Amino acid sequence: MALTPWPYPLWIAHRGAGKLAPENTLAAFRLGLQHGYRAFECDVKLTRDEATFLLHDDTLERTTSGQGSPAEQDWSALAPLDAGSWHSPPYTGERLPRFDQIARFCRANACALNVEIKPCPGVERRTGQVVAAKAASLWAGAAVPPLLSSFKPEALEGAREAAAALPRALLLDTLWDGWFEAAKSLGIVAVVTNWRVMDAALIEQLHGAGWRALVYTVNEAEVAERLIRDGIDGLITDRVDVLG
Ligand code: G3P
Ligand code: MG
Repeated sequence: MALTPWPYPLWIAHRGAGKLAPENTLAAFRLGLQHGYRAFECDVKLTRDEATFLLHDDTLERTTSGQGSPAEQDWSALAPLDAGSWHSPPYTGERLPRFDQIARFCRANACALNVEIKPCPGVERRTGQVVAAKAASLWAGAAVPPLLSSFKPEALEGAREAAAALPRALLLDTLWDGWFEAAKSLGIVAVVTNWRVMDAALIEQLHGAGWRALVYTVNEAEVAERLIRDGIDGLITDRVDVLG
């Protein structure tokens, strides 16, 4: 099987600039760009009124001034929240970004984006559909499309239903029973694993199937060096200040 073409940079900044700025905010993307990064990963989910925006957790408490599930609130309630002061005082007042703001930032700065579809529980397929449809319109005519990824096969099925032409990747924290067959049936172009489960043999297996092999979240130079020697295609990192 021929390896799928790969227009993406090797190094990808996790949640914008990982832990150095409030994750999944425009401030984090700006910081990653300042450190020379030209590819980013972020987590995208839906509000109750199906606005697409960036947030990692199923609930708002950890990284915003809000409370509860964003799936039970409209965007108008989330837009004013403070998504920065939990991190450190200089980021007080930083807002939750909408997906279209991040798309514009990436396109304006010639950066690639790995969009992790991160559904709240119960809306996996719908989140995949809405995020993929939105991505297709936000990147219309772009030379490098966003890479859509998810731990949830149902979300990737939804993405395929809404925008079949956009590349998809299956995220794996562990190599669960049936993952290879599931990946084949999802029509993916890449598998993104926890770095702890990636090794030369798995990279060879993925490449043999025509897929690219990526890992998250690599914050140690020695781990990165081993994986690069083994032929890894992408490394997602928090350490935009020292790696890449
Ligand atoms: O997309 C890779 C990585 O972000 C997956 O884990 O929990 O950081 O979203 P998490
Ligand atoms: Mg993520």
